[in-house]
Amino acid sequence: MTQIPQKGIVVDFYDTHPINEQQILEKLRKDGFDTASVSQDILQNYDQDHYGGVAANDALATLAGLDDSCHLLDVCCGMGGPSRYLAQNYGCRVTGIDLTQSRIDGATRLTEMAGLENLAQFKCANALDLPFAEKTFDVLVSQEAFCHVPDKNQLIKECVRVLKPGGRLAFTDILITDKTRDDTKARLQQELTFQELGSAASYPRALEGEGCAVLETEDLSDHWRVILVDRLEMFRSLKDQTIDRFGDAHYVKWDDAYSYFVSLFETGELAGGRFLARR
Ligand SMILES: C[S@@+](CC[C@H](N)C(=O)[O-])C[C@H]1O[C@@H](n2cnc3c(N)ncnc32)[C@H](O)[C@@H]1O
Repeated sequence: MTQIPQKGIVVDFYDTHPINEQQILEKLRKDGFDTASVSQDILQNYDQDHYGGVAANDALATLAGLDDSCHLLDVCCGMGGPSRYLAQNYGCRVTGIDLTQSRIDGATRLTEMAGLENLAQFKCANALDLPFAEKTFDVLVSQEAFCHVPDKNQLIKECVRVLKPGGRLAFTDILITDKTRDDTKARLQQELTFQELGSAASYPRALEGEGCAVLETEDLSDHWRVILVDRLEMFRSLKDQTIDRFGDAHYVKWDDAYSYFVSLFETGELAGGRFLARR
């Protein structure tokens, strides 16, 4: 079994993340919704934890040719926002996995709330050691999460293993560039639990190394530079809730780390990429 050296740190990071199940439910109630039953059309405005909201889900789905005949694996699914959206809008069966148990518990409850439990199911698991037989899935997606997973070669190997021949793998991730300094990588590891970040060249290399055809790579840096400024503002708008739940010091630490992260897209030390490959 592949161990994750930083597992506790990543789980702790997501257990104390400003976007969480309670915060989503509170915001829904504040906006006048009855959280006993909220449709996915409403929930999708609150539950996505990646850049670009549901449009980014559609971009991956279109690239991968997702339809209702597919069994989709959402790797590092968080609270299941993309899984639910893709299940509802493409009619596919979805399995989501995530390392953080609180994320999986939240994903399961939010999915029951939206009445999508027959289509979308969730399991706590490590992306480096997927608990599925080989050739299980037609399509695999992931968004802004591989950055936390060490050993990208093992990660891609696992992803390819569980895909059927001809299956598609479509994902977006935070990337290093030739400008990224070693002290930047160390700080990102320390403050945001990013580990051994991939690059625009390393992902295609890893995919081809596993026998995949790389069909598309897209540089999302310009797009994300704008989105991330808004995202920092969104986190700042959650200041009171974050302090209530996790304390003042946590909010300050988070704000320092996230502003630093956003600034790295301005300086070109970080980039964003979207990849499509076929097994
Ligand atoms: C930024 S969130 C993305 C959530 C989701 N993809 C979305 O778009 O809403 C990153 C997620 O990756 C998960 N994660 C980090 N390392 C992981 C690993 N080794 N295996 C599975 N999940 C992991 C975290 O627990 C977290 O929920």
